[in-house]
Amino acid sequence: MPPTSDRFGLGCWSFGGGYWLDQDRQDSIRTIHAALRAGIRHFDTAQSYGNGSSEQITGQQLRRFSPTITRRDLTLATKILLPPSPAQLKPLVELSLRRLCTDYLDILYVHWPDSAKNHRPYFSELQRLLETGLVRALGVSNFTPELLTEVLSYAPINYCQMPVSLLWPRSLARLGQICRDHTIAIIAYSPLGMGLLSGKYPKAEAFKPQDRRRTLFPFQERYASRYHQLLQVLEREAEMLKTTASAVALAWAASQGVSLVLLGARSRPQLEEDLRATELTLPDSTMQKLQEVSQALDALIPDSEDNPFFHRW
Ligand SMILES: NC(=O)c1ccc[n+]([C@@H]2O[C@H](COP(=O)([O-])OP(=O)(O)OC[C@H]3O[C@@H](n4cnc5c(N)ncnc54)[C@H](OP(=O)(O)O)[C@@H]3O)[C@@H](O)[C@H]2O)c1
Repeated sequence: MPPTSDRFGLGCWSFGGGYWLDQDRQDSIRTIHAALRAGIRHFDTAQSYGNGSSEQITGQQLRRFSPTITRRDLTLATKILLPPSPAQLKPLVELSLRRLCTDYLDILYVHWPDSAKNHRPYFSELQRLLETGLVRALGVSNFTPELLTEVLSYAPINYCQMPVSLLWPRSLARLGQICRDHTIAIIAYSPLGMGLLSGKYPKAEAFKPQDRRRTLFPFQERYASRYHQLLQVLEREAEMLKTTASAVALAWAASQGVSLVLLGARSRPQLEEDLRATELTLPDSTMQKLQEVSQALDALIPDSEDNPFFHRW
């Protein structure tokens, strides 16, 4: 098995604040430093995370380490939303480069597809950006199998970022084979279901009133009892293995044949706990029980839903 540092990356969404309430700047900085010290070299951000502030803080902190960790050692990935015209892609990339304090991106993702747009001219322009050297590889995120197949005929796609968790197994089930067929690396996001699988949030009321996670689907009446069942099994298996529910959920995500799991830690203690979990191997009996409760929850979700935000794009 490759070392932890090759199997996990740091997700930098929360460092932008916004969706993530009360994110402390010093906590973000300490988390980035702790990740680097632990050997993590893959950093994942997006233009929309805190309106550029996640890119900014990530870039600034990585630059502070530049005497010891060179740019070549790092994988910097960011994401853009499709702008009104393809010609606007290059200026957007240049904006990300400035914020990330670098002169190239290792991975540029299209963050979400856009049903109101023809993707062909956008991906043709993205291919031109590859030729400029500003971008080393292209990825897509939150794409359906049909859309991924479509854009593969417009440009080379090397990365596919998707939710991979017990809360949301369907993206991997739907996209896994096509990624393997086209040698596309699968990058797993939200392995803890945005924190829900830690068990801290059995009910929406457990969140602060302004926390937007309280609107996530498991808190709807239709899903609540299957969600609780999943949390109970996680707790029971964690107890049996003398670990935490978060560790079990992370170990499950890491065992799904993905290229890399993005850790969403918001603080150094969370990162340290997440990293300890990376050493955990789940026994077959645990895997089977988790699979059953995860599938039972998934079975309630209409086929038409293709992302855990129930976002219509
Ligand atoms: N492409 C996309 O559309 C997309 C979407 C989502 C995420 N992503 C990427 O994937 C990364 C990871 O996703 P995510 O942030 O949703 O990850 P996640 O691991 O599913 O959830 C992260 C949240 O879980 C809680 N947590 C983390 N470690 C914990 C621990 N040891 N114990 C208890 N709670 C813990 C924290 O929230 P609290 O402390 O608040 O509970 C944390 O913010 C993001 O940063 C982003 O880079 C991409």
